[in-house]
Amino acid sequence: MDNLYKQVARTIAANRPCVVLSGAGISAESGIPTFRSKGGLWDKYDPAVYASIEVFNRDPSRYWSIRGEFIRNYHELKPNPAHTAIADLEKSGFISQVITQNIDGLHKKAGSLNVIEMHGSLREIFCLVCRREYLAPEVPEGMPPLCQCGGVLKPNTVLFGEPLPPVALESAYQAAMTCGSMLVIGTSAVVYPAAALPGLAKQHGAFIVEINIEKAFADADAIIQEKAGIALPLLAAEIKALADMRIEEGELS
Ligand code: OAD
Repeated sequence: MDNLYKQVARTIAANRPCVVLSGAGISAESGIPTFRSKGGLWDKYDPAVYASIEVFNRDPSRYWSIRGEFIRNYHELKPNPAHTAIADLEKSGFISQVITQNIDGLHKKAGSLNVIEMHGSLREIFCLVCRREYLAPEVPEGMPPLCQCGGVLKPNTVLFGEPLPPVALESAYQAAMTCGSMLVIGTSAVVYPAAALPGLAKQHGAFIVEINIEKAFADADAIIQEKAGIALPLLAAEIKALADMRIEEGELS
């Protein structure tokens, strides 16, 4: 009998384009803590206090006290085999779009080209007064870090209470409504609007595959309960084997 990876590979190859929705779990094996797991960021810090725009505007040092080090280390973060497998599947035409909730930039670092960063990215930091742009490692010391003009700096990310970039949101909805399959990877699928995308894709006929160390999304058609860094390379190898076989048989366009 075929194993789960073979079955899922066949379904993805038959239901293109495939869109990825990723969350913090995909970067766990790059050493970045998730939010809601035990010991995760929101397990230690209340996001309403440390990651809301309302508190940021009053006291930005709260946010910077938990995120400053991460931002300064941004350029040292490295993609793991899950990010790389996804980039390879995009190159070979199986994945058309990555939608990520992550702000770590690792999909782009791995080589994925079509990436929607729904919650923004830590790559750029802006001065709220003069709009001068700083790259993550150049952020000045200080709590909160200040621009040369004296203005407060804020990363180009979405805090709770802020709207999502409209273009990113519209493109994500569009990708979800038109995909043939969706890989939902390493997300607890509780933060909207990203959490609505698998349901939207399913409503429009897509086959939904969840890859997670635990079952998080209720409506998946197939679940691979495994670490993303293990599951994605295995799945990519099966898809590639299938494509090679069909090319030999002259079947795959
Ligand atoms: P969560 O921390 O809520 O969920 C992480 C998911 O990854 C959980 O379902 C874990 O079971 C799973 N997981 C952990 N390690 C894994 C691994 N190695 N392989 C596969 N799965 C693994 O993170 P998100 O769902 O991304 O938003 O959180 C969504 C949003 O909430 C974030 O973008 C952030 C946060 O507040 C903002 O800050 C606006």
